[in-house]
Amino acid sequence: MLPLILLLLLINIFSTSESSNRVSTALRTQRKKPFAAIVFSESNYNTPFNKNPCFWLSRLKFQSKLCWRQRGLPDVLLTARNLSIISCQNQFQYDQWNCSKRDFFFKKIYRETAFMHSMAAAALTFSIARACSEGTLAGCQCGEHGKPSNSSKWQWGGCSDNIKFAKKFTRRFLQLRKKDDGNYQNAIVKYNSEVGIRIVIENVQVVCKCHGLSGSCSLKVCYKKIQAFDYVSKQLKGLYHAAIYVEHENHIRPYKSGKMGQKLVFLENSPSFCPTTVDRRCNNTENCATLCCGRGFYTTQVHEINKCMCRWRKEMFNVECKYCRENKTIFRCK
Ligand SMILES: *[C@@H]1O[C@H](CO)[C@@H](O)[C@H](O)[C@H]1NC(C)=O
Ligand SMILES: *[C@@H]1O[C@H](CO)[C@@H](O)[C@H](O)[C@H]1NC(C)=O
Ligand SMILES: *[C@@H]1O[C@H](CO)[C@@H](O)[C@H](O)[C@H]1NC(C)=O
Ligand SMILES: *[C@@H]1O[C@H](CO)[C@@H](O)[C@H](O)[C@H]1NC(C)=O
Ligand SMILES: *[C@@H]1O[C@H](CO)[C@@H](O)[C@H](O)[C@H]1NC(C)=O
Repeated sequence: MLPLILLLLLINIFSTSESSNRVSTALRTQRKKPFAAIVFSESNYNTPFNKNPCFWLSRLKFQSKLCWRQRGLPDVLLTARNLSIISCQNQFQYDQWNCSKRDFFFKKIYRETAFMHSMAAAALTFSIARACSEGTLAGCQCGEHGKPSNSSKWQWGGCSDNIKFAKKFTRRFLQLRKKDDGNYQNAIVKYNSEVGIRIVIENVQVVCKCHGLSGSCSLKVCYKKIQAFDYVSKQLKGLYHAAIYVEHENHIRPYKSGKMGQKLVFLENSPSFCPTTVDRRCNNTENCATLCCGRGFYTTQVHEINKCMCRWRKEMFNVECKYCRENKTIFRCK
């Protein structure tokens, strides 16, 4: 709620005092390279980073300074980057946009840009919270538990993901709390990043483990854990589809309507991705129709050898599988 109010406030000030000057204001305040642009840039993804783990952030002065300051942080940031890219590619595997970077994405705010900002913020929040509970990041520990339990059946215990620390850290790292510079695009970037953080918070679950005499489960010990990031990214993808277009000139309205809740916001309609889907693999006839933009698709049969009929072998303490031949149909866009 808070970011929304801040944004509202800001837009109000902005629109009453400077509505006719908007364009010149936008030109005056230069936009910085946003974190998500660096996260999703392929050149960074392909450079080896074993020598200087913060090198990929070097174009972001503030963030690269922070990167060095905390033991364990360089690895956490790399994990967040990997998580962002891999999750995005997984979610959009069979979509017209497959999460590949385009030069224009970070010049304006398209639906895809909005998604990438929220994804980067979500992956960062997740990775930090998890690193705290795994003890791999200096300066943070297990998260707080909830109110004490008054049940004899369960108690708080174990190590919770530190969502509170992660939220605070992510906001600081992405400078979401920094006083706004009057640039409308920057304000939207912040807003979309907050959406990403909030989705992670909403995916905090209470997980319990059984204790007591073997199998009796007479006492459960519970802690807070964020759902697997797959769930988070699936929800973010839902928000990508539900994202709201806000007209530049009338950009106040959707916020005033009070319906925004937790929606991603974009300011520019994306060009068609149809020309980029030639030769892309699609999943089934229905998906191929959309993905290939009506151009049709090729069907090929492939023979794959996959593990199958796996079973746990107690006496050997391992899983034993057979290998099965499988005939698979693969579709590719014309
Ligand atoms: C990130 O991904 C790269 C390549 O996929 C891998 O080599 C690297 O170990 C990963 N880093 C982290 C911190 O997960
Ligand atoms: C504790 O017990 C009281 C009633 O005995 C109940 O109203 C309350 O919700 C319980 N609190 C929790 C955290 O379970
Ligand atoms: C995404 O699609 C492009 C073609 O538009 C292709 O070159 C690229 O390899 C694809 N990326 C992934 C991760 O599938
Ligand atoms: C791919 O197609 C199969 C079979 O039609 C379907 O069960 C599955 O959910 C699809 N996968 C994705 C990622 O859409
Ligand atoms: C796969 O297809 C080939 C012919 O294309 C056939 O000989 C074979 O029996 C099939 N295998 C399975 C497991 O269906």
